[in-house]
Amino acid sequence: MLLDHAIGSPAFREDPFPFYRELQERDPVQRSQVWNCWVVTRYDAVRDCLQDAKRFSNLGRVTGLFHRHFSAEQLATLRPLVEHYSHGLINVDPPDHTRIRRLLHEVFRPSTIARLADRVRAFVDRRLAARLPAGRLEVVHDLAHPLPVQVIAELFGLAQVDVPRFAAWSASIVEFMQTPQPDYAACLRSQQALLDLRAHLRAAIADRRQKPRDDVLSLMVAASVDGDRLTEEEILGTSVTILLGGHETTTRLLATSIYELIRHPEQQERLRADPALIDTAVEECLRYCGPFHRDQRVVAVDTVVDGRAVARGDFILLLLAAANRDPRQFPDPDSFDLGRRPNRHLAFGFGPHICLGAHLARLEMSVALRTLLASCRRLRLEGGPVHWEFGFLRGPAQLPIVCDR
Ligand code: HEM
Repeated sequence: MLLDHAIGSPAFREDPFPFYRELQERDPVQRSQVWNCWVVTRYDAVRDCLQDAKRFSNLGRVTGLFHRHFSAEQLATLRPLVEHYSHGLINVDPPDHTRIRRLLHEVFRPSTIARLADRVRAFVDRRLAARLPAGRLEVVHDLAHPLPVQVIAELFGLAQVDVPRFAAWSASIVEFMQTPQPDYAACLRSQQALLDLRAHLRAAIADRRQKPRDDVLSLMVAASVDGDRLTEEEILGTSVTILLGGHETTTRLLATSIYELIRHPEQQERLRADPALIDTAVEECLRYCGPFHRDQRVVAVDTVVDGRAVARGDFILLLLAAANRDPRQFPDPDSFDLGRRPNRHLAFGFGPHICLGAHLARLEMSVALRTLLASCRRLRLEGGPVHWEFGFLRGPAQLPIVCDR
């Protein structure tokens, strides 16, 4: 089993892409015993699965894992966690999902995002101004981590004192997702953090019902389409998803992209010399080093994926990062080309569940990369080899760099 031998090895963590390519060529829908699921790697198959909610469902994509791996007694202890992942945006299929998304379009309008642009710029300027005079930056700590945390804080209208608390909750809640087979002790810790966060959000929602403000919670409370509204549980579930989905993803993408710009000095220079390339550059960063490697679905009917029979109830992992390097879709897929067009990558998913925060992530990326490159003549790595964290997201644990001015 190609994948099962690789999983957990240092070589896989450091550079999974040669393994992905081999899977695509030799066994594009491989059964993993370690992960207990099918692993799909070719672009067309991954996109088709994401698109087809009738055959590949989001129902039970998280709770099904709990049911497969835990005893009845353990499940009883994990009831709040199981309950949380039984409803809401990421756990349902159309038409329930369509209904929630329609209401959320009222909230995530381009104007909501555009309003944040000046604040994103001001925040990046402040962070870089504090660090660059010394000519050094630890990218993760100084920029890639605080930027999305700050943006989420702005979105939710959080007081500054709450920001570290939210960041800590978010890190704890995703702990159980780090491996495709959940660990019971990690689930218990995630559950406690989730309960704390939900209690905090519940109070904030009650507050916004009384005194609406200029933030997404107030917009979710007020959202209405043809008399339909989001329930309290839907607002809670979506808020948790935004808090989790909008934070570590962007941190990892920004840090990995800066690493790749350093590894490809000619592309770094190209973008510095021609800032108008920023839009295609951000898309190429998403394709080449998007952080979200593994998406997940439950097979809803006996069917065939890329020539392989899969059975109702099976789990499938859709390797977005492998699909984004599939030579059948992308010419010269391992070259990092900031002007690449077309670039129909799957880094934000595809189909009904495509990322709700994609515009916001693009905004953060383009402001951060443009400002960083404009503020120095050259970026270089400082220190030894990069240590890669690779749970359900992939990115460098730390990235100390030198910024020559
Ligand atoms: C680089 C940054 C990001 C990446 C790579 C990313 C990736 C993804 C992916 C792959 C999905 C689809 C999951 C699936 O098919 O099951 C998704 C969904 C989602 N993302 Fe993002 N995301 C990013 C940033 C954000 C931000 C900034 C927000 C919000 C502020 C956000 C909120 C969401 C939500 C709410 C969903 C669920 C959509 C649904 O199920 O309908 N994401 N994201």
